[in-house]
Amino acid sequence: DYALRLAEFEARIARGEKIEPGDWMPEEYRRQLVRMISQHAHSEVVGMLPEGAWITRAPSLKRKMILIAKVQDEAGHGQYLYHAAETLGISREEMLEALLSGRAKYSSIFNYPTLTWADIGTIGWLVDGAAIKNQTMLAQCSYGPYSRAMVRICAEETFHHKQGKEMVIAYAKGTPKQRQMAQDAINRWWWPALMMLGPHDADSPNSEVLIRWGVKTKSNDTVRQEFINEHAPEILATGLSLPDPELHQDPQGNWRHGPINWEEFWSVVGGNGPMNKERLEARRRAHTEGAWVREALEAYAAKKSPIPMA
Ligand code: ACO
Repeated sequence: DYALRLAEFEARIARGEKIEPGDWMPEEYRRQLVRMISQHAHSEVVGMLPEGAWITRAPSLKRKMILIAKVQDEAGHGQYLYHAAETLGISREEMLEALLSGRAKYSSIFNYPTLTWADIGTIGWLVDGAAIKNQTMLAQCSYGPYSRAMVRICAEETFHHKQGKEMVIAYAKGTPKQRQMAQDAINRWWWPALMMLGPHDADSPNSEVLIRWGVKTKSNDTVRQEFINEHAPEILATGLSLPDPELHQDPQGNWRHGPINWEEFWSVVGGNGPMNKERLEARRRAHTEGAWVREALEAYAAKKSPIPMA
């Protein structure tokens, strides 16, 4: 019966076993994973937009090639994640419908504009840096397909992170104008990067069950602290500053931040951030304009299939 199955399920997780697609799982575990993985997939796909906008304006061929590769990687991450969610019984069409109709969430961070070229480096360093901290934690998660997707994704994110860091360091050491551009980008992205890792633990309704079932292996605040501890001293070492007058290192070595503007966060999550409307419009347009590609793929598959397709 249910109690017995649940006990066996929890014992498997406690032993560090992975739960696989055909295995028994509580409905709430399935629901939580579909929620998280689909939101994550949408974030990767929407995340292509702020950076994609700069491909035509990259300042050199090298930077352009790096950016094209990075944006293409994000599309691939979206693919792995949609596949991982499909193993839980939801279809890609259902997930896309939820995104395009505006019902689904995706990461708050992608609702901010990329105003200058330095934003591209800063996204790599800060946004991908925050994503890696979150995703390294999720690579340990109890659901096999999600944890394996995270291993591959983190390897690629590490390249994204390094190219961003290299770029910001180069501009920090560059002309006064380049330095100013880098500082302005850091000022605009720092707080949204902290928010991206989710509300404080006390305001995170999903954390308890996710941690109990080994989906999250660290809390939002723990991951945020890891992110700040790595990034604050590195950014300060470039000679750039951070837009938080209260930022300081405590006697235990942790870098403590000032209050986060959660009102801004919830407004962005609720659809009212600076770029929410544009992002969704761009996704809808891409979906409509890409209809012929989906139709062509189906026609091609039907032609090649030995069994007539319904
Ligand atoms: N942007 C949008 N919504 C958010 C964000 C955010 N940055 N952080 C939290 N929320 C939402 C949650 O989805 C949840 O809403 P829901 O219950 O309607 O789905 C609500 O705020 C409350 O938050 P939590 O209870 O803390 O949510 P959760 O426990 O799921 O933790 C977190 C949030 C850490 C983002 C988690 O979902 C996660 O690890 N997701 C996978 C990673 C991911 O999506 N990364 C995307 C950006 S990385 C990239 O694309 C490069």
